[in-house]
Amino acid sequence: MKNIKLIGPFRQILTMANLPEGGPIKDDSLELIENGGVLIQGEHILKVGTYKDLYLDAVQQGASIEEVEEETVLLPGLIDCHTHMCFGGSRHRDYSLRVAGVTYQEILQQGGGIHDTVQKTREASQEALSVMLHQRANRHLQDGITTCEVKSGYGLSVDAELKMLRSIQEVNSKHTLDMVSTCLAAHVCPKEFDDKQAYLQHIVQELLPKIQKEGLSDRVDIFVEEEAFNVEISREYLRQAKAMGFQLTLHADQFSTGGSRLAAELGALSADHLEASGEEEVKILAKSGVMPVVLPGASLGLGMHFAPARKILDWGGPLAISTDWNPGSGPMGDLLVQASLLGVYEKLSMAETLAGITARPAQALGLQDRGILQANKLADMVAFPCGDVREICYHQGKMKPVKVWKRGNEIHG
Ligand code: NIG
Ligand code: FE
Repeated sequence: MKNIKLIGPFRQILTMANLPEGGPIKDDSLELIENGGVLIQGEHILKVGTYKDLYLDAVQQGASIEEVEEETVLLPGLIDCHTHMCFGGSRHRDYSLRVAGVTYQEILQQGGGIHDTVQKTREASQEALSVMLHQRANRHLQDGITTCEVKSGYGLSVDAELKMLRSIQEVNSKHTLDMVSTCLAAHVCPKEFDDKQAYLQHIVQELLPKIQKEGLSDRVDIFVEEEAFNVEISREYLRQAKAMGFQLTLHADQFSTGGSRLAAELGALSADHLEASGEEEVKILAKSGVMPVVLPGASLGLGMHFAPARKILDWGGPLAISTDWNPGSGPMGDLLVQASLLGVYEKLSMAETLAGITARPAQALGLQDRGILQANKLADMVAFPCGDVREICYHQGKMKPVKVWKRGNEIHG
């Protein structure tokens, strides 16, 4: 056996190996290995255990030892399963209007908001988009995020959507961080169309087949909201996309309800946002097998309440937390800051918060090879400079990772 190495010792390793399917998670219920190590072969984990036990294994197998000198705790690499981080321009003007009291929907209805970013993204070349996306991915990787989803949705024409998805594919092929792309051509109806159904038909006929032919994405998203696409129109579009073989994810219940029920009805992978979800929606989602994804960064960006994360868990659901990194509602894009703040306001245990940014978003993306530190999973890992996992949320994102490994390799810089 070749290319084996032992990494450690870590003061604590939170593996996520024994997560329940859903429901509340007590801090002391998750597997925590004290003075642990990780034995790796190539890109994958061979074994996680105490450093002492693994050291003997490692020596017998002729493994190299990568010693971690500082006191650190280890988590699975963080995963951000909902972003719009491929975009041109900036929306600081919207933000200044919003803090003065104009709502997100009013700005959108007046032709600004998403439409403004569409114009800037259409004007940008694929190369320029890739440079910006690459820089944002660098920032994410330094923050310990080893996999992230990226949506299109600021092109809103066949050519401009393809340009975005090609840019995501190009950056994914070059960058260390793994990207999962999603077609969000159904973000809003572009100004060139006055009939929303006609626009979506155009997307189904002209764009989705090209995406499949080029292998650009196998996921489709839609913004379900009166100002974007209502439930009936969304249902029709999603059914067609599903029949073509796309997996579904929805922008659901951000300002009004309807989207999360539709996600459950259609067997979507995830229903994201959920700020407007009430008890009914939460109960439906908990039973549905759809991953509820909450986006505290959008609440912080819009100055509105958080999604009912506590209720989702209390009704038996799992919970994923992501950034929604985008120029409009979520410009911050800092997963750990946002998850920590959600945790303190929604009264989440640290185990619930940390599962929400590791194992749960992996499930939301349908990725079974990551999000957990155990044999045969990818060696995507992040170490924080402290001796107790509880310190990670305690510092509310201010404590940054000291080391990040992607597919077994330590990231430098
Ligand atoms: O998830 N709500 C819809 N879409 C994005 C925001 C996009 C934008 O404002 O540019 C969201 O919040
Ligand atoms: Fe979003």
